[in-house]
Amino acid sequence: MASKHLAALAILAILLPAVAMATEFTVGDDQGWTINFDYEAWAKDKVFHVGDKLVFKYTAGRHNVFKVNGTAFTNCAIPPANEALTTGNDVITLATPGRKWYICGVNDHCANYGQKLAITVLEAWVSPASAPSTPAASAPSTPAASAPSTPAAPAPSTPAAPAPSSAYGISVSGYQLLMAAMVAVAFLVV
Ligand SMILES: *[C@@H]1O[C@H](CO)[C@@H](O)[C@H](O)[C@H]1NC(C)=O
Repeated sequence: MASKHLAALAILAILLPAVAMATEFTVGDDQGWTINFDYEAWAKDKVFHVGDKLVFKYTAGRHNVFKVNGTAFTNCAIPPANEALTTGNDVITLATPGRKWYICGVNDHCANYGQKLAITVLEAWVSPASAPSTPAASAPSTPAASAPSTPAAPAPSTPAAPAPSSAYGISVSGYQLLMAAMVAVAFLVV
């Protein structure tokens, strides 16, 4: 009986951190990436962190996804076509904190049908010390000294693969927390 519970808890302890460390957001939820949807309202109650993913789902050819700056977002200025994501299942890993903007470049979907999304990405759950942008030479961090808002090298607008060091930092920290919780629960169960 007790060992059964412990086995279940062990499995949870392994699986949960993977869920907890990065969130995958399907933009527009069931509606996906489409026209006449209020993406401002959709984003409003959500908290985005570095390492999370945005998934843009749509019928390929009907829409596309451009990552743009704030000016292009406001004006619905469509970048060159070769910068578009077009698969219909476009996954963007949020790689840096700050304001991010995405628009559809098909016809006037952005300008006249509200197909545009703006979000604010917060730092990863762990301290910036383990973030990939930490200068290699820096000493093991007095956290106050590093200015988080310093623009690092311009973020590539293509969906970059998540930096392993960052993901690992998150998973370790989340894993430790959850392990502690699981051990506590295990004692209660027994
Ligand atoms: C925004 O992007 C456009 C091209 O997509 C560029 O011409 C413009 O200079 C950018 N604006 C800022 C403020 O970076």
